[in-house]
Amino acid sequence: MIEIGKDINKSIFHLKNNEIVVLPTETVYGMGANALNKQAVDKIYKIKKRPFYDPLICHTNSISKIKNYVVKIPLKAKILGETFWPGPLTILFDKNKNVPDIVTSNLKRVAFRIPNNKLTLKVLEKLDFPIAAPSANPFGYISPTSPEHIMKKFKTDIAYILDDDDCNIGIESTIIGFENNKTIIYRVGGISIERIEKVIGKVQVFEKNIIFPNSPGMLKKHYSPEKKMIIGEIESLIKKYKNKKIGILSFNKYFDGVSKNNQIILSKKKSLIEASKNFYKSLHILDNMNIDVILSSLVPNEGIGKSINDRIIKASEKYEI
Ligand code: TXA
Ligand code: MG
Repeated sequence: MIEIGKDINKSIFHLKNNEIVVLPTETVYGMGANALNKQAVDKIYKIKKRPFYDPLICHTNSISKIKNYVVKIPLKAKILGETFWPGPLTILFDKNKNVPDIVTSNLKRVAFRIPNNKLTLKVLEKLDFPIAAPSANPFGYISPTSPEHIMKKFKTDIAYILDDDDCNIGIESTIIGFENNKTIIYRVGGISIERIEKVIGKVQVFEKNIIFPNSPGMLKKHYSPEKKMIIGEIESLIKKYKNKKIGILSFNKYFDGVSKNNQIILSKKKSLIEASKNFYKSLHILDNMNIDVILSSLVPNEGIGKSINDRIIKASEKYEI
């Protein structure tokens, strides 16, 4: 059994010993370890069965600490950080030599974010090194938004889970960076494109490159349940799959012809914020139901709805690399 609790000092102790500690954030739970220690970072890749080409996000509690690991803080990054941190935004910076290459998969940039979770911020305040933390799921599986999701998939090799119940935002951070004077969103997430553009003007959303992804938000199948998930118009899908045991992930209403017990609604009141909080949690429940297929459709494609749709599409596509 993995030890779990709300003990900040225990979390700090294990992280200083280069052990893995699962930390709560407002987006998803992170599989955390000392980003400056290669062995500690190696443990993260091993436990997640994550390929080494997939870089990790570093977490800390202040912009002044980030300065120790980057060449410079561009003005737009400073403005974004001051506006949205602590919060679900990750910024890519040119790294300096203090960041081990294993953290960034040999890329020249390092990803940083200041997460908005009181317990985790208390831990980060006490550390003089950043915490590398990918989502605490086996590579490719649904991201965890509560400790039970982690306990179901991992039995050993985690020193401690810092428990703070359900994550509030429920999907991963938005990842942003700067290339040739352009501001680029590499992964849509917890902060909507609209909110970012209000602060720094027009941004570009990176086109998918599934052959050589340099950001695995771009792997075609990611964040996926083990059950087959199909998206489309739910009424017609119910007819098409009438000989299968059907589960439904719906935005705001129940559908006829399938037991209500097998249907999960993301937000009865059509709130995209509530839908985002419930999204991974609902996928975990459906994936553990006695069903053959999960039928779903996209949510309204605005604000954080774009991020939810990105995850719905990724959860339903085939892995192609
Ligand atoms: O909300 C989140 O961001 C959560 C919590 C735990 O903070 N973390 C998270 O980490 O989603 P992960 O590893 O599941 O996804 C991180 C993604 C990588 O897959 C990669 O696409 C991108 O961040 N990334 C990290 N470092 C990068 C770099 N140097 N250049 C390009 N992309 C990078
Ligand atoms: Mg992940």
